[in-house]
Amino acid sequence: MAAGENPSDSTLAAIISSSSYDAILSEKANLIRRAIYGNQIFLRGLIEITSYCKNNCYYCGLRAGNANTMRYRMSENEILHACNYGYSLGLRTFVLQGGEDPAYTDKAICSIIENIKKRHPDCAITLSLGEKEYNSYKSFYDAGADRYLLRHETADAEHYRFMHPENMSLEKRKECLFALKEIGFQVGSGLMVGAPKQTVDNIISDLRFLQQLSPDMIGIGPFMRHSSTPFASYENGSGELTVRLLALLRILFSHALLPSTTALFTLDGNWMPKALKSGANVIMPNLTPLKYRKKYELYDGKASLSLDSADNLKILVKKLESLGFVYAQTRGDVKR
Ligand code: 5AD
Ligand code: SF4
Repeated sequence: MAAGENPSDSTLAAIISSSSYDAILSEKANLIRRAIYGNQIFLRGLIEITSYCKNNCYYCGLRAGNANTMRYRMSENEILHACNYGYSLGLRTFVLQGGEDPAYTDKAICSIIENIKKRHPDCAITLSLGEKEYNSYKSFYDAGADRYLLRHETADAEHYRFMHPENMSLEKRKECLFALKEIGFQVGSGLMVGAPKQTVDNIISDLRFLQQLSPDMIGIGPFMRHSSTPFASYENGSGELTVRLLALLRILFSHALLPSTTALFTLDGNWMPKALKSGANVIMPNLTPLKYRKKYELYDGKASLSLDSADNLKILVKKLESLGFVYAQTRGDVKR
């Protein structure tokens, strides 16, 4: 399978379900990443602005129905402070992520975007705030936001239904993604690897959907159980499959920005170097103030003060250098 090639479903199925191609996949992916992005790794400062969410996804610790979690919201001032701190560390992209929290009006979000851009015009702003109306997305874009992350989670309608309550739908999720593209955002989507009841066919559907969407960024990480959710008793996703899929994504989507995610890091810190050598080229160090960080509990044991914390950036950069990479102190836009 060569870069840019469109493999058949049966080829994809063979690759997804066996470890026998892993070495060759990861070598290929590494070469492709190197040819396009060199040895640069892009770092994004992740700011988890609110742990409130109106939704009830069955897998997620932030779900509205979880009464065993502490909630917080960051003020605009706190967010601006976090950006200043990130800027001083060389970060040039800030990712504002949160649950779907109606307490932040569009106006409030636009004000945050405008004020970050005023202070740091050389930085990119990525939003990850869930499903919104077209006009809300448009106002964020007009205020200066550059990118939007919204994982589709699973592209199989039945599987989507199994993972989400009735009031959410795959159709709506797809609509949002295509709206974001139309507006002009650099768009990121992605799936949860090893989600409960996920099949090989589901993953092939995910890849086909991504081919249709043609995103600039693709975020994947293993499903991680959270004890206070309906999915508490399912097994965690596999790091091996996550890295295999990262390599496959790099081959299918040569130019995509592919993060090595916190979920993968939480599963085992040793997966990160493997992910980077298999095509991943982004890391998102956590910039959320420490007093809030433990409360943003998407899943049990989420890494909070580890190597992917901004507080440990120097150690992370050393680690990257020891692996033959460099910390790119730039916005790190997609190369199309
Ligand atoms: N395991 C792994 N990832 C999760 N997310 C939410 N809950 C979990 C979980 N239990 C991911 C979703 C979402 C992102 C914010 O966090 O993919 O898009
Ligand atoms: Fe809310 Fe996102 Fe968690 Fe779903 S995955 S409950 S939308 S924070």
